[in-house]
Amino acid sequence: MSPSAFLAPAAYVSGEITIRAYRPGDGPALQRAVVTSYQHLRPWMPWAKPEQSVDESEALCRSFAGKYLLGQEFTLGIWIGDELVGGTGYHLRWGPLELGNAEIGMWVSAARAGQGLGTRALSALLEWGFTAWPWQRLVWLCDTRNLASARVAEKGGLVREGTFRSDALTVDGSRRDTHLFAILRDEWLRRA
Ligand SMILES: CC(C)(COP(=O)(O)OP(=O)(O)OC[C@H]1O[C@@H](n2cnc3c(N)ncnc32)[C@H](O)[C@@H]1OP(=O)(O)O)[C@@H](O)C(=O)NCCC(=O)NCCS
Repeated sequence: MSPSAFLAPAAYVSGEITIRAYRPGDGPALQRAVVTSYQHLRPWMPWAKPEQSVDESEALCRSFAGKYLLGQEFTLGIWIGDELVGGTGYHLRWGPLELGNAEIGMWVSAARAGQGLGTRALSALLEWGFTAWPWQRLVWLCDTRNLASARVAEKGGLVREGTFRSDALTVDGSRRDTHLFAILRDEWLRRA
């Protein structure tokens, strides 16, 4: 399916969680979530900054919304009511849309981490991704030191296919390793 033919679904509700595309007006919620989570995100998310203005956050949300509509990148927010509790997405880092591969990235706000939200969000993304999206293979990468992230992938039923050695940099600039986890559509359907 070509990106121009594919109209990506915009939202998925699973229990109390809504996972949806960003919209104009989401900037204040994004700003609040990332600025209050800086210390928690800093070791793992290279984009985390100690300060981010509401205007910068709003511009990011609009950029995410535009790319989503164009089928270029599918960045999603995780919401509980009107609180943005995390961010995720199906990222086209493993070839074009028609190949059916996407990478799921995720962060959960500091206030909400460690309460099972990441696990629930990944389960929802697998269900949504393999029923309403054209994904055949969903990938999850994590720093080998990020035990919470690896655990979330394992609990989601993803298979650890390998470990890239010295392929990335930590925020401090030293080299580090990356685990690659993945799950195939057929595997997920058999399990479901
Ligand atoms: C990684 C992240 C998305 C997980 O979301 P979460 O809501 O905190 O995760 P959950 O509460 O669903 O589950 C976390 C699991 O990791 C385990 N865990 C957490 N810290 C751990 C540690 N230091 N060592 C071992 N296991 C750990 C928890 O015990 C839990 O497993 P369990 O249910 O078997 O006990 C979230 O913590 C986060 O945003 N971290 C910062 C950004 C990040 O690292 N993103 C991932 C990049 S790949």
